[in-house]
Amino acid sequence: MIDLRSDTVTKPTASMRRAMAEAEVGDDVYREDPTVNALEARAAEILGKPAALFVPTGSMGNAIAIKLHTHHGQEVICDDKAHILDWELAMTAWFSGCLARPVPTRDGILSWSAIEPVIKNPGGFNAPTAMVNLEHPHNMGGGTLYAIAAIDEICQRAHARNLNVHMDGARLFNAVARSGLAPARIVANVDTVMTCLSKGLGAPVGSLLAGPADLITRARIHRKQLGGGMRQAGILAAAGLVALAESPQRMHDDHANARLLAEAVGVDPATIQTNIVIFEIQSNPAEFIAHLQSEAIRASAIGGQRIRLVTHYDVSRQDCERAASVLSGLLHS
Ligand SMILES: Cc1ncc(COP(=O)(O)O)c(C=O)c1O
Repeated sequence: MIDLRSDTVTKPTASMRRAMAEAEVGDDVYREDPTVNALEARAAEILGKPAALFVPTGSMGNAIAIKLHTHHGQEVICDDKAHILDWELAMTAWFSGCLARPVPTRDGILSWSAIEPVIKNPGGFNAPTAMVNLEHPHNMGGGTLYAIAAIDEICQRAHARNLNVHMDGARLFNAVARSGLAPARIVANVDTVMTCLSKGLGAPVGSLLAGPADLITRARIHRKQLGGGMRQAGILAAAGLVALAESPQRMHDDHANARLLAEAVGVDPATIQTNIVIFEIQSNPAEFIAHLQSEAIRASAIGGQRIRLVTHYDVSRQDCERAASVLSGLLHS
């Protein structure tokens, strides 16, 4: 099966499995797991932030970040296709008691000129804005990226308005591969960043939330509130350390494979920035997916007439060539 539904479907590599088997562990709720401690220190270093916290999922990392930057009754500005808006079970409302304020975008990428008009100040009627969420790369935007100047400008201007900025960098390392910028440079001006080990980096489980030490101390408490205080989590962190060391350098292959698939489905490959291709079909999406499945190819129907393909290390160039030929045949039949 050529599984292009998501980059979350990857299986741990042999070196990850070896590291997991050999990991030194302890009780991480007591902060006694040396492998988790090493992962958190390494992540903080790579991301250029004072501290980082290992969390079970990206959704939990985002939920905790929003909790850190808000009080109940405030608003969180995000784009209209944001993962925190559509795919995290209303955690902004449920855990933080805040309203998401989506800003219309074409491809998930915000600009300060789009953000500024929706900022609300404290007053008798409006819920005040507390923070801005930037998703980089953008999943439902089709793996799209912010220009670094845009990230910097949004952060600088948001801070001038006393707003914090969180980056949902679930696929940050795809942005790193594409832009050639160091992770720490990309996130230099955001207050917190969440990045996933379990997407293109290929680890089986886990994400990291990084930011100032005082916020990460509070984040640890919120992680426990959400039931995310794991015990001998070094088994998982060990795979994460391998993922950080070995996976970023091969992401160019995933991006090249995504461009190949884009061409096959009639999307200009020049518009593909990372590892996600979204395209529209004329036929019934459920039937389209079923037809692909009968050819041993899996893809996601993501609403309306849209289909999403995501490349990752468990699909080879050869797999993508076969998928491209089947997709092209299907679309042109
Ligand atoms: C942009 C983005 N943020 C957050 C998440 C959540 O990650 P998790 O599935 O680990 O909760 C995802 C998952 O696909 C994502 O694409």
